[in-house]
Amino acid sequence: MQTTDVPLLGELDPIEKASVDELRALQFKRMKWSLEHAYQNVAYYRAKCVDAQVHPDDLKHLDDLQKFPFTTKEDLRKAYPFDSFAVPMEEVVRVHASSGTTGKPTVVGYTKQDLKVWAGVVARSLRAAGVSHHDRVHVAYGYGLFTGGMGAHYGAEELGCTVIPMSGGQTEKQVQLMRDFDPDVIMVTPSYMLVIADEMERQGLDPREIKLRCGIFGAEPWTNKMRDEMEARLGIDCLDIYGLSEVIGPGVAQECLETKDGPTIWEDHFYPEIVDTNFNPLTDGEMGEMVFTSLTKEAMPVIRYRTKDLTKLLPGTARTMRRFDKITGRSDDMMIIRGVNVFPSQIEEQVLRDERLSPHYHLILSRKGHMDSLAVQVERREDGQSNDEDIKKKLSHHIKSYIGISTSIDVLEPGAIPRSQGKAVRVTDNRPKE
Ligand code: DLL
Repeated sequence: MQTTDVPLLGELDPIEKASVDELRALQFKRMKWSLEHAYQNVAYYRAKCVDAQVHPDDLKHLDDLQKFPFTTKEDLRKAYPFDSFAVPMEEVVRVHASSGTTGKPTVVGYTKQDLKVWAGVVARSLRAAGVSHHDRVHVAYGYGLFTGGMGAHYGAEELGCTVIPMSGGQTEKQVQLMRDFDPDVIMVTPSYMLVIADEMERQGLDPREIKLRCGIFGAEPWTNKMRDEMEARLGIDCLDIYGLSEVIGPGVAQECLETKDGPTIWEDHFYPEIVDTNFNPLTDGEMGEMVFTSLTKEAMPVIRYRTKDLTKLLPGTARTMRRFDKITGRSDDMMIIRGVNVFPSQIEEQVLRDERLSPHYHLILSRKGHMDSLAVQVERREDGQSNDEDIKKKLSHHIKSYIGISTSIDVLEPGAIPRSQGKAVRVTDNRPKE
């Protein structure tokens, strides 16, 4: 569906309309600066370069970036809390942190200029989604150390929107405010959007009747099937926003309204690469791990940061800048079930094929002897007379034929699967720790 006008060419940032050559020239200039900045001011990165016997002067072309060492989450953890910063603390005006499932969080810092850049790329993202200063934007990403809430907030303000800083949680109140304030746009994780939609229905409100026109969903993987489901149910355009704390937060890439074909990377600030499992560079179109080099960040430059997000780079469509395909998942979310690699998003696609099932699902991994097994918990849409045996038979058959694994299926009552107020937790791993 398409209900909104796409941004006019004249409204775009000049670099969004630049030729590929102009873009590459700017990237090269900025990459040189960023490498030099990291080398001179971040001890762990200089040590890595010395080990690898490379120096920023070795960058003669963009491709020379491949000679430089990667940065990993582990590097940033070791630098906890502030040793990855490249400027004196007096110049750092904000920190955020990414939760991390184990141990210490990863801390990220911003100078005043970094915050300007961040608000700028989020504003650009919103504009690419057809949002303008006429719009009211309801922000239901969490505010706090997580980058989602404040990142969305300052970007929407930068564009001149009216921002409703609701944050995550208090679902009843979310719906109340949406009824009363008539937002045009919501920024939220796709899984929490479903919870809000359920709550609207619980309150007797048809989600299609509220004024909302567009949802900007990210912070977790979601499939195109989920987009179809949500667009039909909510009567809005659903667009993908991508980002990660280490690189800046939300606004590294955004899907354009006119094409809805995967997020466009704001390549004037974030330089993408894709690498294989041995960390060798792949060419555009090949599937692998996405790696980012920040080109303008002052407080915490990252060079070749390994995101663990799996996707492929695609040529630009709505913009000259490249896109990436919807993220299949993170390499650390990949389950290996009897030799078959499986991502939660693949199961999601199969669950959503059955109209009797709600889009909520949960995966439980366990081990009997040496065999891993996967139980898929799904939920009936309505209480009542659905044929659970038929649901189980069809879903296990689809998973077997499309993904290649045998699963056991549990069909649960509506509402039985725990809901998230931010990023959904899709998998419980009950296998013994090695
Ligand atoms: O999730 C930043 C963000 C906030 C992005 C709000 C979009 C909207 P982190 O908490 O550091 O930052 O988590 C980053 O989340 O490496 C991906 O694995 C995942 N992720 C983020 N956006 C998407 C997306 C924020 N659109 C990690 N599709 C990333 C799939 C996403 N995964």
